Amino acid sequence: MITLRLNANNPKDLSLAAQLLRAGELVAIPTETVYGLAANALDPAAVAKIFEAKGRPQDNPLIVHVTDILQAFPLVKVFPFTARRLAEAFWPGPLTVILPRADHVPDIVSAGLRSLALRVPAHPVAQALLQAAGIPLAAPSANRSGSPSPTLASHALYDLDGKIAAVLDAGPCAVGIESTVLDLTSEMPLLLRPGGISVEQLETVLDRKIAVSPAVVHALENDAPTPSPGMKYKHYAPQAELTLVHGSLQAFLAYAKQEKPDGLLVFDRDMSTVNCCCQSEIGSCQPVNCLRYGDDPKAQAKQLFARLREIDELGWRKVLVRCPTKEGLGLAVYNRLLRASAFREVTV
Ligand code: TXA
Ligand code: MG
Repeated sequence: MITLRLNANNPKDLSLAAQLLRAGELVAIPTETVYGLAANALDPAAVAKIFEAKGRPQDNPLIVHVTDILQAFPLVKVFPFTARRLAEAFWPGPLTVILPRADHVPDIVSAGLRSLALRVPAHPVAQALLQAAGIPLAAPSANRSGSPSPTLASHALYDLDGKIAAVLDAGPCAVGIESTVLDLTSEMPLLLRPGGISVEQLETVLDRKIAVSPAVVHALENDAPTPSPGMKYKHYAPQAELTLVHGSLQAFLAYAKQEKPDGLLVFDRDMSTVNCCCQSEIGSCQPVNCLRYGDDPKAQAKQLFARLREIDELGWRKVLVRCPTKEGLGLAVYNRLLRASAFREVTV
């Protein structure tokens, strides 16, 4: 199959993308979080193509994207008050809620679960496309299963060229990390995946504590029950072996000297010290290969997945990563790095 490169700024391209989706084809589309691989959520054959193109395990359910809360209502059995408050506060935006699935929504969308994940994307192109297509769109991240999520159209093409009908290019994604996934199928809201909306933001709107699934910051035992099937898969992982390092910059650099990695992933503010440290230690320290990923969680979220892909392009095998804060949006960045590093963490 030849994958069409469509330009989101061109109205003809946008309308072609909508037609392809209505015809049961797959299109990689921009959202404010990451690019999604969209298909008509009400067409089981179209949804099956998503699993095939991504190499996605059959038991990993998908998020359904809708234009607004009104299009969400008929897809679920109930839309509780808690969900309503959150939707009013954060939709359109990077929040996914899980609610009991309505009977007419095909099983395959939720991989057989009785629940359904729903989100209203904020990206104007995603909104325009949903309007033009007039159907709800099932869309996981548009990467090959297991690799870092795509924040550029070129990332989606790299992973899926020849396997999908089209990619709709709208430039880089503003948030850069996926939506927050919140399970609202029981009394106590449960955070399954930290993302673009922080736990603190959710708690402020609901005026109560949110339970956080242990899988967010811990590796699951092989036989542990999973509230969210996606958590049991290795995710976001480059080919390189990443180690997440907690501690001061000085201790990090001393550890790097000892470990001799192929490269470092550090904060912007670290760069001057990293360069300086290397120059002052000629003979004992090779010039350091260094990538940076921002200073604050917002910048880090936006840059992280592109950096993980660059690490592989550079052919680095062993990489040390400065650990971000776990506060606010930082929890989502930390969660992705934990998975990318297969939970390899050290404190120095
Ligand atoms: O920002 C995002 O959420 C992006 C964009 C494209 O919207 N989508 C995305 O989808 O990240 P995906 O498939 O890569 O991640 C969805 C996560 C998976 O971990 C999946 O297991 C979980 O949500 N999930 C989906 N439906 C679920 C359900 N019914 N119950 C529990 N977990 C669910
Ligand atoms: Mg994904």
